[in-house]
Amino acid sequence: MGTSHAFEPIEVASRDEISALQLQRLKWTLRHAYDNVAHTRAAFDARGVHPDDLKSLDDLAKFPFTSKLDLRDNYPFGLFAVPRDQVARIHASSGTTGKPTVVGYTRRDIETWSTLVARSINAAGGRPGDLVHVAYGYGLFTGGLGAHYGAERLGCTVIPMSGGATERQVQLIQDFKPGIIMVTPSYMLAIADEFRREGLDPRDCSLRIGIHGAEPWTDEMRREIEQTFGIDAVDIYGLSEVMGPGVAQECVESKDGPTIWEDHFYPEIINPETGEVVPDGEFGELVFTSLTKEAMPVIRYRTRDLTRLLPGTSRSMRRFDRIRGRSDDMMIIRGVNVFPTQVEELILTEAPLAPHYRLEIRRDGRMDSLTVVVESAPGAAEDAIAGSAKHLGKRIKDQIGISARIEVAAPGAVERSQGKAKRVYDYRNQ
Ligand code: DLL
Repeated sequence: MGTSHAFEPIEVASRDEISALQLQRLKWTLRHAYDNVAHTRAAFDARGVHPDDLKSLDDLAKFPFTSKLDLRDNYPFGLFAVPRDQVARIHASSGTTGKPTVVGYTRRDIETWSTLVARSINAAGGRPGDLVHVAYGYGLFTGGLGAHYGAERLGCTVIPMSGGATERQVQLIQDFKPGIIMVTPSYMLAIADEFRREGLDPRDCSLRIGIHGAEPWTDEMRREIEQTFGIDAVDIYGLSEVMGPGVAQECVESKDGPTIWEDHFYPEIINPETGEVVPDGEFGELVFTSLTKEAMPVIRYRTRDLTRLLPGTSRSMRRFDRIRGRSDDMMIIRGVNVFPTQVEELILTEAPLAPHYRLEIRRDGRMDSLTVVVESAPGAAEDAIAGSAKHLGKRIKDQIGISARIEVAAPGAVERSQGKAKRVYDYRNQ
């Protein structure tokens, strides 16, 4: 294990050392939340558990989960464990319905977060002095400011571009020559389109590393981005409720799924139906408990992200497998469970089709139907496109087990994201 790559020694510490630190910090977190958050105290009392009941890491399974609903019910500041004037920053995610979910950070939390994003950029291959172009959105979304503080903390020069204004993105990449870009994978493709529209080859630009996350993506998408730009593309994971970007980061030397910064977040995988903890290596829902957060500790937060835990490789800390999807995004088509990433994998192996797609679900009579709207690749021949569309339909049938209608759209016809892409359009209850 190469210690030379680590930003902090704990990344490559022994498992015993990491577990001991986790236990100590977990005890502190349970106590801190119980003593300072009325909701947590009530939830523990209702379960008949007390922070003192945690003697080992496995004892965490006795404690109640936290869900997005708990954040909504305690809107806006009800889950804060410190007085409001100790909160240095608020972020919020809009969600699809109703009130946003609100999170808060003390100054020390911001410090921790910055360090973890610095650690993440370092694991991605970034070094002090690098120019970092941040194209995650700035504002209530955690992506922009989270990336920004981390890049500054590492000692990089930050270009706080934010999302959108795609022509401007290209202009600044051309003029400032950043080595690193931090942006959602889907928006990275929109930036590639703009390069080509201007007659520029994205491979000629200065970028060498892309740090992509905030939405599910596949290894096929990684290859597409890497080949298009001639860069290393690595996965960054996070969520506002737990912190923001930098909860986990893929190491560039192994590219084998994000390493969880386990000294700050304790992961579990549960069976989403029963809530039982499943052993490492088995698929289920990812659950996180914060270990050091002051303003808003989260106990067993149900992320709804589906994956499995894997042993450490480039670091001593555990990894997870690329997120397959969110339980919210799972489509049930005629009784078959389908994730957008499963369709994405198949689309991206068809060269005459472009990596821009959306999935439409309708109800025809009593039957659900799936339409895959996918763009043809610019310049692809008509018969190659038709052959690919047919082949794609067949592979969706064979490998996923559903019949889908493939609708090929002209280049540019599928709306581009400027942040998180919306892949699924469900017209069933309209
Ligand atoms: O998306 C934080 C973030 C910003 C992560 C920038 C990475 C880069 P939220 O808006 O709260 O926070 O959305 C969190 O996005 O539960 C996942 O479903 C999804 N997500 C985030 N990163 C990944 C990833 C930010 N690398 C939700 N792969 C999470 C798959 C991801 N899904």
